[in-house]
Amino acid sequence: MIDNYEKAKHILEKYKQSHIIPFIDKADVDIKEKIINQVLRIDFEELKDLYNMTFEDLFVDLEELQPIAGVNPDNMEKEKLQFYTEIGENVIKNNKFAVATMAGGQGTRLGHPRAKGTYKIDFETGSKYLFEIIVDTLKRANKKYNVIIPWYIMTSNENNADTVEFLKEKNYFGYPKEYVYIFEQGKLPLITEQGKLLIGEDGLIKEASNGNGGIFNSMLKQGAISDMEKRGIEWVFIGSVDNILLKYVDVLLLGLTINDGNEIGTRTVLKRNPEEKVGVLCKQNGKIRVIEYTELPKDIAGIKKENGELVFGESHIMCNLFSINAIKRSSTKELEYHIAFKKSDYLTEQGVLVKPEKENAYKFEQFIFDSFKIFNNISILRGKREEDFAPVKNKSGVDSPDTAKKLYENYWKNNKNVIY
Ligand code: UD1
Repeated sequence: MIDNYEKAKHILEKYKQSHIIPFIDKADVDIKEKIINQVLRIDFEELKDLYNMTFEDLFVDLEELQPIAGVNPDNMEKEKLQFYTEIGENVIKNNKFAVATMAGGQGTRLGHPRAKGTYKIDFETGSKYLFEIIVDTLKRANKKYNVIIPWYIMTSNENNADTVEFLKEKNYFGYPKEYVYIFEQGKLPLITEQGKLLIGEDGLIKEASNGNGGIFNSMLKQGAISDMEKRGIEWVFIGSVDNILLKYVDVLLLGLTINDGNEIGTRTVLKRNPEEKVGVLCKQNGKIRVIEYTELPKDIAGIKKENGELVFGESHIMCNLFSINAIKRSSTKELEYHIAFKKSDYLTEQGVLVKPEKENAYKFEQFIFDSFKIFNNISILRGKREEDFAPVKNKSGVDSPDTAKKLYENYWKNNKNVIY
């Protein structure tokens, strides 16, 4: 303990974070040990690089951007659709398919201060939690294909304990426990404009999840990739926790991607309007990339085609398919970091909790779609908003439980005989 204390002190001094030392000195044994462990774990060299990034002109390279369009299944012949579907179904029937849910996010925008998957929606037919809706989809597919699809769930620093406890308490909504693999994503400290660490209300150094792009590296580090390999998994669908119409078992996308000879695939919908908070797919220097809504300038976002559709309208809806090799390759590549400037409560040395009125801390995040650039190509299947996209993001208004509930209920009213 003393050794570690000295080591931590030395690191903090070396990286000009000495203001943390008095917090360690004053803390009781339990917290003291936790902060010291944090200091010993944090990669301060990486943090230094990230801090330096905050001084760079964070311009997003929009040169040579070209719009791209997904394949529209409505324009496919029936035989072709059947052909792709069968390819996809065979992968599932042969137990080579798994799904992963990115559930590291909190329900902050929803006004639900817990893991987002624990949010409950009240339907006409009864209430369902977001996690439960995913289980429903998986169970229907399992029944149809006579398999049990392994389900990987990525949690975060903020919500791991809550998620683990919640799922246990709900008995995994009847999903076989041996097929549920929960793993925690990576985290990074928040830093101030001066590059300083902050201490939170719990007395610890403030850290936050490193964005959903952290999934690949966490899958590697937390043993999820080896677990997939042990089970003989060849394809993994990675989806979000907050789209209640997400087709986790997307046989058509799977068949199309395999037939195209690609290692990754994605299902899109057309962007509703220039302001919609979705990333858009495009091509740049021969590579596929997604430009996030926070990074696409308004004038470009608003350009329209003659038919009124947005030129940059092929939206990323977190409906992504990766071969196991694609996951392995992505897990060893360092994806770029995006910076967000946020308000973050912190403790002063005197123990006073400050709730800043203005943004005061940088948060660093990787985005899952930045992995697309690693590959030469991607299969893009255009879905339909009313069938594929019912996000639960905000407490009210657009993309809220009310709008998602209506889309979900209409979908199941109009599609009584489908399984997803
Ligand atoms: C996200 C996408 C955006 C897409 C939109 C569709 C990214 C970076 N952005 O935006 O391109 O058009 O959804 O609804 O992917 N999550 C984690 N760990 C994290 C952060 C997020 O697991 O550290 C998970 C969340 O639990 C959720 C998903 O990622 O399942 C999306 O996260 P959120 O931050 O809500 O994304 P949006 O801003 O809505």
